[in-house]
Amino acid sequence: MAKDDVIETPPRSGRPRIHQNDRERWRKAQAARRQRLRDAATCKKPRAIFSSQRGEWGSPPELIGNVLSRLEIDCFCLDPASPGPGGPVPARRYFTKEEDGLCQEWVGEHVWLNPPYGRHLAKWVRKAVSEWHFGRAKTIVLLLPARTDTLWWHELITAGGQPEFLKGRVRFLDTDGQRRDVAPFASVLVWLRPQVGDQIDPRPQGIDE
Ligand SMILES: C[S@@+](CC[C@H](N)C(=O)[O-])C[C@H]1O[C@@H](n2cnc3c(N)ncnc32)[C@H](O)[C@@H]1O
Repeated sequence: MAKDDVIETPPRSGRPRIHQNDRERWRKAQAARRQRLRDAATCKKPRAIFSSQRGEWGSPPELIGNVLSRLEIDCFCLDPASPGPGGPVPARRYFTKEEDGLCQEWVGEHVWLNPPYGRHLAKWVRKAVSEWHFGRAKTIVLLLPARTDTLWWHELITAGGQPEFLKGRVRFLDTDGQRRDVAPFASVLVWLRPQVGDQIDPRPQGIDE
């Protein structure tokens, strides 16, 4: 095409006809429609609606039982993110949303933390690191989504958290204690516990300071 053949479009003036939010909504609707078509083509069932915002992923009893037996206890001292009495975690003390576990001191030998998985997850992880660091909680076992690309993950591991990646996907409990379908994310247990070096006194024997 010769240069002179280029048709000049008139400069746009006034407000754009499609608002940015409309465009974004339209793009999302198209993506959802394409996904539904793909699912239909591969005979997949529609995906279960999991909302990590709801934050109510109850720990499955076999996982709790496994951790308790490894700690050689039958009850945690504290569950700081709890639905309240009747929740799935045997704990002597617990904090509910109303008491706000993030604002409390976590004192105890053995603490179980399966935090709400919403936007405050990082705060819960940082709170656990801090309570452990200052020695209020001796051992904290965290059940977390394995988001190894997040800042909180790196802070937790750098602070001394020992990860155990779970094979397969966890079947969490609903608020009514019923099993959900398997989670759409991988999970990991991270242990904040006394470290070998904590028990060693490096000073030479017989020298008082
Ligand atoms: C992922 S569930 C875990 C429940 C239970 N600890 C377990 O392991 O099965 C997170 C729980 O934290 C509770 N929660 C939410 N915000 C909280 C807050 N600020 N303080 C204490 N608990 C909270 C929720 O109601 C929910 O029951």
